[in-house]
Amino acid sequence: MSKIIIVYASLTGNTEEMAELIAEGIRSTGAIADLKVVEECNAVILKKYDAFILGTYTWGDGELPDEFLDFVEEMEELELKGVVASVFGSGDTTYRLFCGAVDELEEQLQGWGAVIAQESLKIEFGPTKEEKELCRQFGEKIVAQLNVL
Ligand SMILES: Cc1cc2nc3c(=O)[nH]c(=O)nc-3n(C[C@H](O)[C@H](O)[C@H](O)COP(=O)(O)O)c2cc1C
Repeated sequence: MSKIIIVYASLTGNTEEMAELIAEGIRSTGAIADLKVVEECNAVILKKYDAFILGTYTWGDGELPDEFLDFVEEMEELELKGVVASVFGSGDTTYRLFCGAVDELEEQLQGWGAVIAQESLKIEFGPTKEEKELCRQFGEKIVAQLNVL
């Protein structure tokens, strides 16, 4: 049975809502999904799972929130080559860099050689009814991908 961890940062709850829906999608396949707030865990935890999913809102001018900085530093110390991962997040299209933090995390993961199971999922503010379904499917597809790798 696949075990997936979702680590996220959310200030006003939008990314958190996405994280819960993605977890729902994962669990609907019979796989295990654990949810963690980024401030409350060290990146070494990622090694205990078959795949990990990172979720973040975007701050400043397309920036990664401060809560993620230590975690990214900790990830640099891990061997992530070949590890299955994906990224999602919420943003606001009126900003110059919509979901810039999501792109930043995805680029970092690619740089470390992680296997991006699904292209990042970006949503404006909280998910609409259709986007809620996209979040669930995102989770389901990552499990499906993990099963063929
Ligand atoms: C000061 C500030 C800066 C922001 N900068 C960006 C940005 O550069 N790009 C973007 O897509 N969204 C930006 N946002 C929007 C948030 O990412 C967006 O509101 C998101 O839905 C918050 O997610 P959360 O509810 O999980 O905290 C910014 C919001 C604030 C308050």
